[in-house]
Amino acid sequence: MKSSTLFLIAAAAVSVGCKPPPSQPASTSEPAMAPTTPATPEAEAQQIFSGRCSPCHGATGMGDGAAAAALNPHPRNFHDGAWQSSVNDEHIENIIRVGGAAVGKSAAMPANPDLVAKPAVVTALRNIIRGFR
Ligand code: HEC
Repeated sequence: MKSSTLFLIAAAAVSVGCKPPPSQPASTSEPAMAPTTPATPEAEAQQIFSGRCSPCHGATGMGDGAAAAALNPHPRNFHDGAWQSSVNDEHIENIIRVGGAAVGKSAAMPANPDLVAKPAVVTALRNIIRGFR
C-alpha cells in the first residue's frame, strides 16, 4: 500500500516534468537580441570596424593596429586631410566591398563580400572613416 502511494507520487512528478516548460516560447526570441545582430547599420558598422578593421587600421584610424607594422604598404592614417580630400566616397565604399587588389592597391586590404548586400552598413563604415578627418 505504502509503496504504491510512492509510485503514484513519483508518476505524478514525472508527468509534471514532461510538460513543456511554459517559458519556452519566450526564450525562442532571444537570438534576435544577441549582440551579433546590432539594431542599426551604424551599430553594426561600429562592431565591424572594431572587430575587422582596427587590427590593421587602428581603433582610431591612425593606421597603427597590431597587424599594421607587418604590412607593406602600411594602412594609411585616415586623419590625413590631404588623403581625405583626394578620394571620393565611392572609392572608400568600393575598396571596403572588393578589397585592395581589385582596385590596384595592396591585397592586404581584404574584400568584405558579406557587406555587398548591406549598403547601409558600408555607408556607415565610410562615415566612420570620414569621421576621422
Ligand atoms: C589585414 C589588414 C587590413 C584589414 C583587416 C583592413 N584593411 Fe583596409 N587597408 C589595409 C591596407 C594595407 C591598406 C592600404 C592599401 C594600399 O595603400 O595599397 C588598406 C586600405 C584601406 C582603404 C583605402 C585607403 C586608401 O589608400 O585609399 C580603406 C577605405 C580601408 N582600407 C578601409 C578598411 C575597412 C573599413 C576595413 C574593415 C572592414 C579594413 N579596411 C580592413 C589593410 C587592412
